[in-house]
Amino acid sequence: MWAVLVVNIVLSITGYCVILNVVPKLKDMFVKAHLSGVDLNKKNKPEIPEATGVITSCIFLIIMFIFIPFPFSKHFFDKEWGFPHQEFVQFMAALLSICCMVLLGFADDVLNLKWRHKLLLPTVASLPLLMVYYTNFNSTTIIIPKPLRFLLGHDLDLSALYYLYMGMLAVFCTNAINIYAGVNGLEAGQSIVIAASLIMFNIIELNGDCWANHLFSLYFMIPFFFTSFALYHLNKYPASVFVGDTFCYFSGMTVAVVAILGHFSKTALLFFIPQIANFIFSLPQLFHILPCPRHRLPRLNRDTGFLDPSVFQFKEKSLNSLGCLVLKVYRMLGLIKVERIDNDEELFQATNCTLINLALKFAGPSHEKNLATGLLVLQVVCSGLAFVIRYPLASLFYDR
Ligand code: UD1
Ligand code: MG
Repeated sequence: MWAVLVVNIVLSITGYCVILNVVPKLKDMFVKAHLSGVDLNKKNKPEIPEATGVITSCIFLIIMFIFIPFPFSKHFFDKEWGFPHQEFVQFMAALLSICCMVLLGFADDVLNLKWRHKLLLPTVASLPLLMVYYTNFNSTTIIIPKPLRFLLGHDLDLSALYYLYMGMLAVFCTNAINIYAGVNGLEAGQSIVIAASLIMFNIIELNGDCWANHLFSLYFMIPFFFTSFALYHLNKYPASVFVGDTFCYFSGMTVAVVAILGHFSKTALLFFIPQIANFIFSLPQLFHILPCPRHRLPRLNRDTGFLDPSVFQFKEKSLNSLGCLVLKVYRMLGLIKVERIDNDEELFQATNCTLINLALKFAGPSHEKNLATGLLVLQVVCSGLAFVIRYPLASLFYDR
């Protein structure tokens, strides 16, 4: 086991070095292919190569392809135990789903797909995985938390609903990372914190009964961590590349794949606390109950050089009753700031409903670099909280 992990780490570090060398050399190619975006929060609005996540995700896949024989090597020489075909198929399906997601994510970067397609893509990419789950495990029973057992019993078979849950997990992980973005380094940064947290969790669990699931997860998470870390160096303030939707989808799908096949989806979701908060907060704009501009990232104040929360404009009579209610509740809770626009009786503006704008509302205007660092520190603190929930607190809800 340890020798195989060492091979995995060596390949991952090699991938890290290759990315740091290759991405800067390929940058111009992306701009020539019109794969670029304007860095909206810089005074000179530079054009930055976009979708470079396709390079890192391809290098991740190459690492994994080279690595495939190693976990199975002992079975090549020791014929006594037979070849573990189920484990092998599981490995292949995981790679197939990630590979599909990279392809579909890149299609999104090239074609700028609509939101309904963005929801559909991870669902499609997760199908090979769900099929393998069906043939290999088909375990759809969940353990009920202790406080609810008097009502629902010890366990509950969700059957088809469990597959819906797993499909939705892939949709959530991919899109939650994609919409918690807009500040240099945040997409790649949050991914490395999530990957590092999962690696720690897997290492702790290597001593438990389900060690094989956690070893399987480590095989994916270690290369994912190193390739994302390399991308972070290039994407952090001041960004020299943008990661693109390709990376966000790749990142979310890789986590979803190991969480599903490793049977630790609830714990994996614990490492998405900021993303869950941002997603729930964003729901009224995502479902167009409140207006949703194309970009909700903070806006640059050219005089101070600091970022302020971005806003959307609306007329009170253009909102439906649900919209008015949401606005009132958010305002009451201090989550958004609503102002009347000067010289206009009817036109209002409110800060966009994202965690990034909320952080700026609470902490005051901030430099982009400090904002990104602050949000990543928050991600680390939330991971710490996740470990407290997973270990000391979980015993209140589940038998260990
Ligand atoms: C999501 C968000 C959108 C946010 C965008 C930023 C929702 C519903 N959508 O859209 O509000 O503005 O991500 O990534 O919440 N950019 C920067 N600096 C950065 C990162 C991105 O200026 O650090 C800009 C660039 O112009 C880049 C563009 O954002 O080209 C990328 O946006 P894209 O990933 O296409 O946006 P979405 O994922 O659709
Ligand atoms: Mg995006």
